[in-house]
Amino acid sequence: MSSKKTKPAVKKPVAKKSALAPKSTPVADKDKTQVKQNKTISLLRGMKDFLPREEQYWLAVNHAAESASKAYGYRYMATPILEDASLFIRGVGRGTDIVEKEMYIFEDAEGKRIALRPETTASVARAYIEHGMHAVPQPVKVWNVGPIFRHDRPQAGRYRQFHQLNVDSLGERDAVVDAELIALAYNVMRDLGINTRVSVNSIGSAEDRERYLVELTGYFRTKRHALSEESKKRLLKNPLRILDSKEPEDQEVVAEAPKIIDWLSDESRKYFMRVLEYLDEMEIPYLPDPMLVRGLDYYCDTVFEFFVDEEVPENGKPLALGGGGRYDGLVEQLGGRPTPAAGFGLGIERIITAMRKQKEGQLPTSETEGSVSPLFFAHLGEQSRRRALKLIEQMRRDGVLVNHALAKGSLKAQLEIANRLNSTHAIILGQKEIQDGTVIIRDMASGIQEIIDEKQVSTHAKKILQGKA
Ligand code: HAM
Repeated sequence: MSSKKTKPAVKKPVAKKSALAPKSTPVADKDKTQVKQNKTISLLRGMKDFLPREEQYWLAVNHAAESASKAYGYRYMATPILEDASLFIRGVGRGTDIVEKEMYIFEDAEGKRIALRPETTASVARAYIEHGMHAVPQPVKVWNVGPIFRHDRPQAGRYRQFHQLNVDSLGERDAVVDAELIALAYNVMRDLGINTRVSVNSIGSAEDRERYLVELTGYFRTKRHALSEESKKRLLKNPLRILDSKEPEDQEVVAEAPKIIDWLSDESRKYFMRVLEYLDEMEIPYLPDPMLVRGLDYYCDTVFEFFVDEEVPENGKPLALGGGGRYDGLVEQLGGRPTPAAGFGLGIERIITAMRKQKEGQLPTSETEGSVSPLFFAHLGEQSRRRALKLIEQMRRDGVLVNHALAKGSLKAQLEIANRLNSTHAIILGQKEIQDGTVIIRDMASGIQEIIDEKQVSTHAKKILQGKA
C-alpha cells in the first residue's frame, strides 16, 4: 500500500503544521530572502520532471488508459486539483496517513482551507453530488489521468507529486462491476507489457468491520509489546492498518491475526465469491490476500491491489502499481443520496518504472525517441528553407509527419541528424528543384534518388510509409 512508512513517521505532522501555519508572507518578500539572484533553483524534493526521453512511456500509458477506459464504456471526467480540504478529511478519513500526515494544505486569500488533492475518489463523489448525476442513467462511469499530491517521505517509487489513472463507476452495486474494474486495470497493464499480480480481499460492510475490529483490537492489545512503534500508534487510531504494516517486527504478529474474511456477513461473503467467480470467467489471475485492507477509510466489501508479478523486494513488501475497491458509503457520507460505487487508481510513475524494467532493451532509449517519422526533409540555402517550411506544413496538413532540421544550414549537418533519427528516406530541396517545382527523394540506405513533382510529395511520402514506394 502506498501510504505506509518503513520507519517511525516524522514527528511533526506536516499537514497539520501547514494547515495551521500563519498566512504566508507575500511571494515577492519570500523570494528576496530565500533565493539569491543568479543561483539556480532546483526541483522540489519528491517531485519529478518528465523528460522528452520518457515521452514514449508517458504516451503509451495514456494511450492504454484511454483505449481500455473507452472499451469498457467509461467517459472522461476531470475535477480540479484544488479542493476544499474538508472534502478529503470527511471523505478519505481523519485517521488515515493521507489526511493526517500527507496533505498539502494552505489557506487562500479568503481564509479558506484548500488542499492539493491527495486522491480523486472524494472529488469524483463531490462532482457526482454537485452535478445531480444521480438523475442521469446509472451507472455513471468515469475515468481520468492527472496529478496527485502527497507530502510523504520521498523514496524510490514514492513522489510528492505523481500521476494516477482513476476509473470509477457510481450508481450500481453488483459483483460484475468490481470484477470488470479489476479486468480493466489488469488489461491496461497487460497492454503495456507488465506481468501483473492482482491481490483481492473483502473487508465486508461497516457492521462486519465493527465486529471484526473488536476482535482484532483485542488480539493486537495482547501482542502490543511485540509491535513496532508505528503500529502501537495505529492500535489507538486505526488498528486495521496494522495488517498492512511493512515493519519487519510486525510481520509475525500480523500473520497470526484474526482474518476479516471469517467475520463477513453472508451477503458480503456471497458478494465476494461472485467477484472471484467473474474474475475466473474472464480469466483474470488473482491471489486472495486476507490481510489486504487499503489505506483509505471509504472502502467496503471488495478491495484489490496490483503488483508486478514475482517482484519481491529485499526488505518489506513490494510497492503497489495501483489499488481500489468498492466504496458504497462515500457519496452519502459527503451529503449525497445513498449511492453504491467502485473504482481504482493506478500510479503512472510506478507503471513506467515497471515498463522500463520489463521491456528493457525493447523500447528505444536513444535520440530516436525524438523521431516522429522515418522521413527527413532537407534543404539547401535560404530560399529552399522557406519553400521547405511551406511543403512540410502542407505535408502535416495532409497527415504526413516528417522530421527536419531547418535551423541548420549545411546539408551535411542535416543528413547527419537524419541518420541519427534512423530516417529511411530524405526529401531534399535545392535551388534547381525550386525552379523545377520538384523534390528529390533519397533512399538513405541505398543512396538511390528519384525526382518527383513537389505536388506529389505527400502522396509519395504516404506510399513510402506504407512500404509501397
Ligand atoms: P491509493 O492506493 O492511495 O488509492 O493510490 C493508488 C496508486 O497510486 C498506488 O497503488 C500507487 O501506484 C500510486 N501512488 C500512491 N502514492 C504514491 C506516491 N507517493 N508516489 C507514486 N505513486 C503513488 C487511491 O488513491 C484511491 N483514490 C484509488 C481509487 C479510485 N479507489 C477508488 N477509485
